[in-house]
Amino acid sequence: MDKVDVIIGKNSWLKFENYKKKYHKILVVVDSKITNLYPQYLGTLLEGTNYVKFLITEPEKEKNLSTIEELTIKALGFNLTRYDCLLAIGGGAIGDLAAFFSSIYKRGIDFYNFPTTLIAQVDSAIGGKTALNFQGYKNQLGSFYLPRGIFVDPQVLKSLEDDDFYGGLGEVAKYALLEKEFYDWLIKNLDLVLEKDLVILEKVIEKSIKIKEKYVKGDIKDTKGQRIALNLGHTLGHLIENQHPDYLNHGLSVLVGLDFALYLSYKLQILNKSSYLQKKFLINKLLKVVGEFNITNYHYLLNKVVTDKKVKGENLQFVAIGEKGFKVITLDYQQFENLILEYSGDFNDRN
Ligand SMILES: NC(=O)c1ccc[n+]([C@@H]2O[C@H](COP(=O)([O-])OP(=O)(O)OC[C@H]3O[C@@H](n4cnc5c(N)ncnc54)[C@H](O)[C@@H]3O)[C@@H](O)[C@H]2O)c1
Repeated sequence: MDKVDVIIGKNSWLKFENYKKKYHKILVVVDSKITNLYPQYLGTLLEGTNYVKFLITEPEKEKNLSTIEELTIKALGFNLTRYDCLLAIGGGAIGDLAAFFSSIYKRGIDFYNFPTTLIAQVDSAIGGKTALNFQGYKNQLGSFYLPRGIFVDPQVLKSLEDDDFYGGLGEVAKYALLEKEFYDWLIKNLDLVLEKDLVILEKVIEKSIKIKEKYVKGDIKDTKGQRIALNLGHTLGHLIENQHPDYLNHGLSVLVGLDFALYLSYKLQILNKSSYLQKKFLINKLLKVVGEFNITNYHYLLNKVVTDKKVKGENLQFVAIGEKGFKVITLDYQQFENLILEYSGDFNDRN
């Protein structure tokens, strides 16, 4: 794996100072919320550089091919060469989009990521996956492309909306279900996490990144089956993400997906009752922000599962939760559908 500098901590963005001298020009793909919330911080970051900004106002909606075209026009108009670089400053959608563009512009330019949501800091910025949505289907286009550097500053998480913060905790909970030691630590520190204590958040980020790196290392192109663990919670999660009528974001959809994965693992006797209840404690706490939600509203989306990358032939590869870490099982669609319908009743009874 190429070396990626991952710099975590308060004001870590400003360490870009040591990198920016190498480049004549910088294309900055930035969330408009960040330019409004942190103008001085951005000003210091870009001080002394020759840059243009490309603003994104609705990240998930703009993570598509037409934005790639607009970015190309902007970059060519600025005479951005293959020796220049691109900075992504925003959440996971901007990171995915900007990384994809960096991977194809002039056959690849240097890319730096400044993730500003919890999901981006603990998950999407790490591992080199880039993605675009296509005609309503998530992440259908993409490539593998590693950034030169990732600058993670937990301070910017203070301004996240609750849904985005808890959504990020959805991916954190995924790591906790994969690694018992992290689960125990997280439960002990959960109150501080929920208060957004900066010292604890920094630890959450460091520990999460370590876990993600462990699964990514040696399988950067996702061909050896090692990264599949990271799909925990994503099979159902991807089906319900951003769909009418609830429009749950990625992380909150993953939280529901994790809850389902726990249910399924218990029902199929992969997990015993006491482990199931213990693990469910964390998910229940985080799911509080989801409120009313009826999975049967999404039943018609089950056919989307056939477009999912976890599908092999007629069956579905599902990441279940075992007593000691994850377990990949094979389900046929009918079994999957029946389990979702059963789970739906259970989900609505959870309070
Ligand atoms: N590449 C990967 O490995 C990977 C992994 C997980 C998720 N993802 C992708 O990441 C995306 C989800 O990530 P996300 O939730 O960060 O998406 P996002 O970029 O849409 O950000 C979510 C919201 O937070 C706002 N925001 C960003 N930073 C903020 C800040 N500091 N303060 C206040 N508001 C802020 C954004 O404007 C947006 O409204 C999805 O597209 C998903 O597919 C990719």
